[in-house]
Amino acid sequence: MSAHNAPTRKDFPADFRWGVSTSSFQIEGAGQEDGKGESIWDRFCAEPGRIRDGSNALVACDHYHLFPQDMDMAKAMGVNAYRFSIAWPRILPQGRGAVNEAGLAFYDRLVDGMLERGLDPWATLYHWDLPQALQEQGGWLSRDTIAAFLEYTDVVTRRLGDRVKHWITHNEPWCSCMMGYWEGVHAPGGKSLADGMLACHHVLVSHGQAIPVIRANSPGAEVGITLSLHPIKAASSSAEDIAALKRHDGLRNRWFLDPLFGRGYPEDTLKLLGDAAPKVLPGDLEAIATATDFLGVNYYFPEAVKDDPAGGLMRASLVDKEGVERTGFGWEVSPQGLVDLLTRIQRDYSPPVIQLTENGSTFEDVLTADGRVHDAERLSYLQRHLAALKQAVDAGVPVKGYFAWSLLDNFEWAEGYLRRFGLAYVDYASQQRILKDSGLWYGQFLNEKLKV
Ligand code: FCB
Repeated sequence: MSAHNAPTRKDFPADFRWGVSTSSFQIEGAGQEDGKGESIWDRFCAEPGRIRDGSNALVACDHYHLFPQDMDMAKAMGVNAYRFSIAWPRILPQGRGAVNEAGLAFYDRLVDGMLERGLDPWATLYHWDLPQALQEQGGWLSRDTIAAFLEYTDVVTRRLGDRVKHWITHNEPWCSCMMGYWEGVHAPGGKSLADGMLACHHVLVSHGQAIPVIRANSPGAEVGITLSLHPIKAASSSAEDIAALKRHDGLRNRWFLDPLFGRGYPEDTLKLLGDAAPKVLPGDLEAIATATDFLGVNYYFPEAVKDDPAGGLMRASLVDKEGVERTGFGWEVSPQGLVDLLTRIQRDYSPPVIQLTENGSTFEDVLTADGRVHDAERLSYLQRHLAALKQAVDAGVPVKGYFAWSLLDNFEWAEGYLRRFGLAYVDYASQQRILKDSGLWYGQFLNEKLKV
């Protein structure tokens, strides 16, 4: 897309929320400072072979110390909202019980820093960094972790609830549970589908039960959950592939959306899961279906599936489409996928509001002799996804906000520092931040209103 037909801010409603998104473990560093406890991700990083570049996030972007300058950069860019997450082990180093005042004080400073700069704080309570002490008691496989999450939620929202008015309970239960307890590629590295499903169920119940706690401590707050969702196509028009698409969609998307919107777990998926389905106690489904104010959607890429008897319980496997544009991660670039996904969610579930809480891309970034990062591919990705977003807004989808992933290059989980997603380049040796061309453009786009 040439800058000529890229959307402008004026193409969107005036009250649209424009933000950037980050998470605690990926940027904060200060991994062993000021009383912070160990998280499952600290432990995972310490296990040989888990992180592709052998790195950890003990320092990461050192945002714990450098946050004022990061906030300044976000403000200069012109965003009006800032999504961050809170590190549970910084608040309750043992997961429950003793509260670490220094941890709370850090988020006080962070939130106050946002408010001083006119940035609306959007806090995610759980972006995957479970206290290791809780993992030792079973982690999300234990129902007791639900109670621990409620205790943590209560402590955090009592402290910050006067100033933070947007709360996201969980980020992407698919990733924290399925990738963490089934696929084994994320902390804590489990390898059982039944465990993934059980962890997921506990996470969803904890989401629902946390909502009244947040509402009580943060009057007038808006509360939601963020899911990673994918538009899915069948590899061919054969009846077999179309049936495989439905099965895969059941596990990938409907498994989360159906119970959150009061329909319980999808029957067809439950049947296919058989013994791997989670144990649901009376009241669980009601809790999961507790009304929220918005649905957070993270969109990165679409999927294509084919019928495959060897493809696990869903008897489906992903196919790599030939000749499509891909990011450095190999993820297909598909702005149309965003339109398809948003219109599908609207058609099938009609959430009151959708917030696009993450969208972004990784490519090989090069810091050139002119001191700049000319990330033409990321810039084009951003512009085309904003054009797609406008299409969805124009089609009547109630999407009210866009948060670019991410403000900064950061620790990309099992990929370590090999993947850069930032609008700002981070030189990890000096901790210098350099706005990439994409970040500079986002800033121009956001400041457009000033030029009227
Ligand atoms: C999402 C995660 C986020 C980041 C991006 C690239 O799944 O929520 O933390 O890693 O992917």
